[in-house]
Amino acid sequence: MNQDQLKQLVGRAALDYVPAGEILGVGTGSTVDCFIDALAASGVAIPGAVSSSERSTQRLVKHGIKVLEATEVTRLAVYIDGADEIDGRGFMVKGGGAALTREKIVADLADQFICIADESKLVQTLGKFPLPVEIIPMAAAQLARRFARLGGEAKLRVGVVTDNGGHILDVTGLSITDPLAFEAEVSQWPGVVTVGVFARHKASVCLLGGADGVKTLKF
Ligand code: A5P
Repeated sequence: MNQDQLKQLVGRAALDYVPAGEILGVGTGSTVDCFIDALAASGVAIPGAVSSSERSTQRLVKHGIKVLEATEVTRLAVYIDGADEIDGRGFMVKGGGAALTREKIVADLADQFICIADESKLVQTLGKFPLPVEIIPMAAAQLARRFARLGGEAKLRVGVVTDNGGHILDVTGLSITDPLAFEAEVSQWPGVVTVGVFARHKASVCLLGGADGVKTLKF
């Protein structure tokens, strides 16, 4: 199976986690696109979804699934999203699609984060995938200096403006051995909107697609 087929496989597998009759949190990315398509094809009816990006909103609406604002819900039972990296403890790097801020906001509303990913995303230590950080533009140079002190090289993602009007730094060269401490530290640097380490909002379950089918990792 190629990577696209694995994404379709885990997208379908995630249907088992859609809570009957409840509003669902929906992430962003090519794996989530497969999940949205599978949800629409399944005929499983949900009262609506809270979406983490304009991209997912458009896809949900195209399938006739109602999209609610995050401000309209007080809690979600489940949030389903992909990841750029996930480690053996359920800690993740996200934001390859620049949707990390809204993803963290919707994840914060949810009791359970169901991560859907192909097996290439499973890593020993987070940091090989360039770490996305949404920032306020005027802080870019100072934040790059701060990352350099941690051994990272930060590059502005040229031509990208997020759904919130922010910019993205992609940071290479990091080895994130303590994701909780790293997220706590970087989150309070002035000018950081959201760091793409999801440690406080880690996965509860990961559906990992590989040659042998879907493995369920529980954290
Ligand atoms: C979007 O900003 C990201 O967090 C995605 O969830 C992540 O990049 C995974 O995307 P793919 O499913 O396209 O690999």
